[in-house]
Amino acid sequence: MKVTVVGAGNVGATCANVLSHNETANEIILLDIKEGIAEGKAIDIWQTSPIGLSDSRIHGVTSDYNATADSDIVVITSGMPRKPGMSRDDLIATNAAIVKEVTENIMKHSPDTILVVVSNPLDVMTYQAFLSAGVDSKKVFGMAGILDTARYRAFLSGALNVSPKDIQAVLMGGHGDTMVPLPRYTTVGGIPVTELINEEDLNAIIERTKFGGGEIVKLLGTSAWYAPGEAAAQMVEAIARDQKRVFPVCTWLQGEYGLKDIYLGVPVVLGKNGIEKIIELDLNSEEKALLNDSAGAVRKVLDVLDGMDI
Ligand code: LAC
Repeated sequence: MKVTVVGAGNVGATCANVLSHNETANEIILLDIKEGIAEGKAIDIWQTSPIGLSDSRIHGVTSDYNATADSDIVVITSGMPRKPGMSRDDLIATNAAIVKEVTENIMKHSPDTILVVVSNPLDVMTYQAFLSAGVDSKKVFGMAGILDTARYRAFLSGALNVSPKDIQAVLMGGHGDTMVPLPRYTTVGGIPVTELINEEDLNAIIERTKFGGGEIVKLLGTSAWYAPGEAAAQMVEAIARDQKRVFPVCTWLQGEYGLKDIYLGVPVVLGKNGIEKIIELDLNSEEKALLNDSAGAVRKVLDVLDGMDI
């Protein structure tokens, strides 16, 4: 199993570190455009292997796509992160050009690879990668839902003082302020969350989740990386080990949920073929309205991208 992570910034390096630690792939390539960054971080990660007892071998390269040849899975984290006051959508022009170039280079050397996109604005960058890759949409998808549900689950575990391991949740829609956490599909050890928390507290957690990325940007002056990097690594693991995990994933919809020609977060089964199944929930009218709002927000940015001629 060979996995490439493009972008050795905070998110990419964290993802590569988790992949190496978990021995998800025996060969990991970390690629960056800045001279020495990927090499340096890869050596540092490699040197954790005798401590964490991992057999994964990681190599860092500067823009050398030959080294990525025949990757089974590629994670794209390239692009500018957000600065305070910026929305994810403010990054569109810069990051679309970067994602296009990266995707084309990757596909030249690994035409059969599966692409996991992490760059922001996420839903739109996943669409850009899909356009540039020219392969089946089952093999091009984005990481957001695992991160957003992780935030929701972490906040719930804190409020309820229970293990986050026992909190299961579905969250749909775009990776932005219109994302749709679904209390009706949130359980704590199999118990519906609504039996354990009052509506006001639950709503406060949902609001905090929606702005969970921004909360960290305000504090750090840049985007989060531990949870985003580990979330991307969890998707890679599901594919590499053919786990058939059920995750919310930014997926190309062709009529599911009444939505067409749009990348949006929905629950899927993730395995060796990428998206093996899109799970269609029977949403109630309120949930459907929220999902449609979120789709509308993503569609606006997709249209901006379509009009940009990148
Ligand atoms: C976040 C960025 C990575 O949500 O989109 O933290």
